[in-house]
Formats: sequence, structure tokens, C-alpha cells
Amino acid sequence: MEQNFYLSLLLLFVSFITLSLFFLFYRHRSNFTGPNLPPGKVGYPMIGESFEFFSTGWKGHPEKFIFDRMSKYSSEVFKTSLLGQPAAVFCGAAGNKFLFSNENKLVTAWWPDSVNKVFPSSLQTSSKEEAKKMRKMLPNFLKPEALQRYIGIMDTIAQRHFKSGWENRDEVLVFPLSKKYTFWLACRLFLSLEDPNHIARFDDPFKLLASGIISMPIDLPGTPFNRAIKASNFIRKELVLIIKQRKIDLAEGKASPTQDILSHMLLTCDENGTYMNELDIADKILGLLIGGHDTASASCTFIVKYLAELPHIYDGVYKEQMEIAKSKAPGELLNWDDIQKMKYSWNVACEVLRLAPPLQGAFREVINEFIFNGFSIPKGWKLYWSANSTHKSAQYFPEPEKFDPSRFEGSGPAPYTFVPFGGGPRMCPGKEYARLEILVFMHNLVKRFKWEKVLPDEKIIVDPMPMPAKDLPIKLFPHKA
Ligand code: HEM
Repeated sequence: MEQNFYLSLLLLFVSFITLSLFFLFYRHRSNFTGPNLPPGKVGYPMIGESFEFFSTGWKGHPEKFIFDRMSKYSSEVFKTSLLGQPAAVFCGAAGNKFLFSNENKLVTAWWPDSVNKVFPSSLQTSSKEEAKKMRKMLPNFLKPEALQRYIGIMDTIAQRHFKSGWENRDEVLVFPLSKKYTFWLACRLFLSLEDPNHIARFDDPFKLLASGIISMPIDLPGTPFNRAIKASNFIRKELVLIIKQRKIDLAEGKASPTQDILSHMLLTCDENGTYMNELDIADKILGLLIGGHDTASASCTFIVKYLAELPHIYDGVYKEQMEIAKSKAPGELLNWDDIQKMKYSWNVACEVLRLAPPLQGAFREVINEFIFNGFSIPKGWKLYWSANSTHKSAQYFPEPEKFDPSRFEGSGPAPYTFVPFGGGPRMCPGKEYARLEILVFMHNLVKRFKWEKVLPDEKIIVDPMPMPAKDLPIKLFPHKA
């Protein structure tokens, strides 16, 4: 009797699992049935090709996922399944142009579930609405007059950073130091936060957040995603404390309405006269801190790596920066004119952004079905543009693995081929800010040191941003005074 009961239970369980699997496979396949879809492979339900997508990055070659499929299926567009979603990857300059030019007509921004869960206030409206609010808010803070004012502040913070983290040391780890530099800048310019101990409270949570935000959205104890959610909750609480204090300071006249992006956010209302609440502001600042510091710090790190490997490129940057340094009075800070003279240095930085783009690409969602290159792209599909599909292609950049800043001389690369900041209406609003902080970093670095890599063959990991596996240790050789 008892035996029969257990047998029935087992049968029920097996039937349930079989039916669920059948349903999953059926739903997965039905996502990809339709006339004239692009060629490609869609993998298993839920997982799709996510593992291959991420693992090529972990091995340091995110472009392999794209190029393998471009050569096997189509060099313009192929279908796949990523993060549990039916997807198509658009490749080459034509693919970039199409996606960047059809924003809000045929496609709109889309973030993986992991991003929405890490930013819970986005769930009240949607991540798209929140991004719109953010874009409206940013011009005040990132307009050219404001940016020009930041150069002196950036230089002051860079000098402080090099004094405390680099000078009087024989060896340093570049990656954590670059992060510290861009984070100090962001804390100062976004929040007027300068106390190093206060800033250090954010160090670990930001590390966890950065590696968990674009991961498989599995919210179980110990997963990167779970750790990212906890870290984001911690940071948000800290930010709310800062926001509350700022409200008091503004009311008492101890803070200025234009001193940083936080004051702008507190004092700017939407078209209905509504002000953002504290949590919303905390989320926006969190988004900016993530978008605005890890990206630029990855670029600074790779600049150090390439300048160590390529002494003739270092010499060119050194010459340019020393001419500027020599033209300054003692104690005089960098200004807008100096930045305009850093042409070669910026070409070098662009070549670094080409070879090691901090963001590998971004997603869109199809809002109206359309035909691209003769293939149907159904409504609801997720689309992905990949910086590497052009950056690493010999068609647009001859000898793509060669480091050659002269590619950016004259009119530079062809349109839609050099896209580290994206393109079209969603192009990174922090591009100019990033240019300034990177150039100020290069100036302060080469003015002080020459350096050598400690590990000549250090591995590179892309997760989701490129980083040296051992944090890029270097030996420093200060210039003689
Ligand atoms: C080297 C540094 C940087 C790189 C390579 C970079 C790259 C990008 C890319 C590729 C996008 C996505 C575009 C798309 O969806 O197609 C983006 C979006 C964004 N970036 Fe940056 N970024 C950098 C620095 C910054 C900085 C310093 C800030 C802020 C001060 C910033 C703020 C943003 C914001 C708010 C968005 C979202 C825009 C939207 O969805 O409308 N970024 N960035």
C-alpha cells in the first residue's frame, strides 16, 4: 500500500518535470518560429547561448562570440538567445547605424532583468522612464560651461590621488588605483563628498555591484546577482543619508543649488511640478556612479598597460604632456586650453577605447516588427549591438590588433565604426566628462613616471568590463626633478 503511494508520487513528480520541460522547450522553440528569421543558434530554454556569450568574455575574448557567429551565419545579423530572451545581434557599421537611427521608432532601450532588480525603484515605472528622467537631468550638469569648471577640480583631485597612492612607491596595482581615482572624482563632482574614509565605505559594495549587475539573474545566497542586490541596497541607504543631510544644508543655506548633481536633482522638478523622491534620486546617483566610474577607470587602466608595452607611444604622450606642464606657472591647474592641446594623448586614449571598450555593447527591444537585411525581426525580440563587431574588424580597422593612434587623425574612422560610447539619441551623455577625466589622469601620470609591467603576460578578463586578472602590477620609475 505504502509502496504504491510512493510510486504514484514518483510518477506524478516525473510527469510534472517532463511536462514542464516540454512546455519550456515548446515555448523556447515557438519564440523562434516565424518566416524569414535571421540564421543562428538558440541553445537550450532559459540558458540559450548566455553561457557562451559570457564565457568568451571571461576568457578575455568577448569578440569571439560575435565573430564565430558572423562567419558561420551572417556578417550583418544573427539570431541567438541571451539572458532568457530571444535575441538578434546586429553587426558591422550598417547594424550600428540601423539601431542608433531607429531609437524609439523601431527599437527602444532594454536592460536585462538583473538591472531592473538591482535598481528596485525602476520597477515602479520602468527602467526606460527612469533613463528618460536621467537624460533630462544630466545636461545641466554635463553642459560645456560646467565641464570646463570641473577641469581644475579634476586636476586637484588627481594630484591628491597621485600623492597618496603612487608617489614614493616602487610598485603599485593600477586597476584598484584607477578605480579609486575615478570614484573620488565622481564622489566630489556628483555629491561634493571628499572625506576619503567616507568614500572608502563604498569600495567593497561597488566591486560586488559591478560584477553582479550584468550576470545571470539567479537570486540565491552567494550568487554574484544576490551579492549585487545586497550591495546596491547598502549603497542606496548610504546615499539617502547624504541626500537627507543635503536637504538640510540647502534649507540652511550651507550648500549651493548648483554645487553638484545632487543639488540639481533635489531642486529640479518635472513638467508637472513634481520633485523626485529621495530613493529615486539615490537610484539615479547610483546609476551615474556605476556608469561613470568603472567605465573610465577601465580606460585609465588599459592606457597604463598599453603605454608600458609601447615605449614609442609613451614617448609621444610624454612629449605632448610635458610641453603643457612646462607652460604652466607653479601650482597653476589644468584648464580648457590645455585640454585642447592634448590631441595626440586623446588619439592614444581612443585607440585604447577601440581595443578594450569598457562596455562591450548594449541591448535594445523591438517595438515594431521590421525587416533588416531581408530578415524579419519580430516585435519583443531583444537586439544587441557590439562595439567589437566593428572595432576588431579588418574591414574598418586594417590590422585591427595593431595599436595605431594615427587611425584617429584627420577625419578619423568611418561613421558608426568607432562606437565605445554608443551612438544616436542614447549615446553616452558622459562622453565629454570621461574625456576630461582620462586626459587629466594621463597628464598627471606621465608627468611623474615611466613604468614597466611586473607580469608581462597578464591575462585579461571581461566581466562585464575588461580588467587585468592580477590588477596590473607595475614598477614605477619617477622622472628626475
Ligand atoms: C570611458 C568612459 C565611458 C564609456 C566607454 C561609456 C560608454 C557608454 C555606452 C556604450 C553607453 C550605452 C549607449 C547605448 O545604450 O547604446 C553609455 C550610456 C550611459 N552613460 Fe556612459 N560611458 C562612459 C562614461 C560615462 C560617464 C563618465 C558618465 C556620467 C558622468 C556616463 C553616463 C552614462 C549614462 C547616464 C548612460 C545611459 C544613457 C541612456 O540610457 O540614455 N558614462 N555609456
